[in-house]
Amino acid sequence: MTAPGPGAHLLVTGGAGFIGSCFVRDVLGRRDGTRITVLDKLTYAGNRANLGEVEADGEMASRFAFVHGDIADPRVVTPLAATTDATVNFAAESHVDRSILEPAAFLRTGVDGVHVLLEALRGETDRARRGERPTTPRLLQVSTDEVYGSVDEGFAVESDALAPRSPYAAAKAAGELLARAYHATYGLDVVISRGSNTYGPFHHPEKLIPLFVTNALDDLPLPLYGDGLQRRDWLYVADHAGAIAHLLAHGPAGEVCNIPGSAELTNRDVVARLLALLGKPWSLVRSVADRPGHDRRYAMDGRRLRELGWVNRVGFDEGLAMTVAWYRDHEPWWRAARGGDWDAYYTRQYAERLATSAAAEPAR
Ligand code: NAD
Ligand code: TYD
Repeated sequence: MTAPGPGAHLLVTGGAGFIGSCFVRDVLGRRDGTRITVLDKLTYAGNRANLGEVEADGEMASRFAFVHGDIADPRVVTPLAATTDATVNFAAESHVDRSILEPAAFLRTGVDGVHVLLEALRGETDRARRGERPTTPRLLQVSTDEVYGSVDEGFAVESDALAPRSPYAAAKAAGELLARAYHATYGLDVVISRGSNTYGPFHHPEKLIPLFVTNALDDLPLPLYGDGLQRRDWLYVADHAGAIAHLLAHGPAGEVCNIPGSAELTNRDVVARLLALLGKPWSLVRSVADRPGHDRRYAMDGRRLRELGWVNRVGFDEGLAMTVAWYRDHEPWWRAARGGDWDAYYTRQYAERLATSAAAEPAR
């Protein structure tokens, strides 16, 4: 195993997205000599502006490079794998509702893309064995708690069977299973993280918290699915990125590790808290038709991560307050993120739901 430390050269795929860009900002911000090359396809969810802070800082920019490309394209991936010590793969289509509307892109990136990355790293692992490169490359495959499916009671542990229930979760499960197969079969140095629902600055406004914050800022209706009593365990983005950096350095090869959040809450409770921070009324919330196959609860056991020495730093109330403040202060960012196919997506996802919506029962 070669756990990369300070001074390593990392390939960060999907590094222009929400969690990936936080990882890049935070790792380069340590100023320990680490270099990062981001490979990103810049889908509707990828945004170069998320890396603006890095590109504007001369010292960080000198250790940073950006490549616009697809992880499913071996012509791009193979040379990048050859010149880096480790890969952190954030690249994915990441929104469950979009996976229900159009699953194909989820499989292309989550299965074919991961396969291309693994093949490139298999070649590099063989080169290291032959002494043709100094380090054996490591892959940290970023996965999700959604691979466990709905956890109606108790807490999922890493050895539990996978039971994904959306095309998004199934594609993520396939990606991590492929990565584990390459560890078992070809001896690839692979670590898998399963992160919880993440929130914070730079989150695309299609997801629950940023959608509801930005809609509320515009006094638009907030479409709450079903009874709103689904439960999620919320993880602040810098804690998710920090735990991934910790696992990259300290995770045993071939292991899976949960990254739980710091607050299990119903969606209604989350919405009540964000409305209170914004000073907006509950009457904005509309009860709309549920998401098909909606997972009722996600909850993971965090013992393995704690034993590896990582603890979350940001509690939910503090994190939500920072997040709401960030969206208030970054209106041009979120208005731009609502460009591209946003109107078409929003109409497809919500027009009918909102037309048939009802007043939502207040949070209990
Ligand atoms: P995101 O949608 O904000 O970012 C994904 C990034 O990947 C974007 O920059 C996009 O342009 C890029 N990308 C997509 N397809 C690509 C391809 N084929 N080649 C190269 N780049 C590509 O997602 P996020 O919320 O930052 O999630 C990052 C990772 O973390 C994903 O793998 C996701 O499954 C996982 N995850 C997310 C959460 C969460 O709550 N957001 C929780 C657990 C795990
Ligand atoms: P989301 O942010 O899409 O994350 P995930 O589906 O990965 O958990 O959704 C979080 C919760 O919020 C989930 O239970 C679905 C719900 N939700 C709504 O009620 N309305 C919405 O418009 C969205 C996007 C999500």
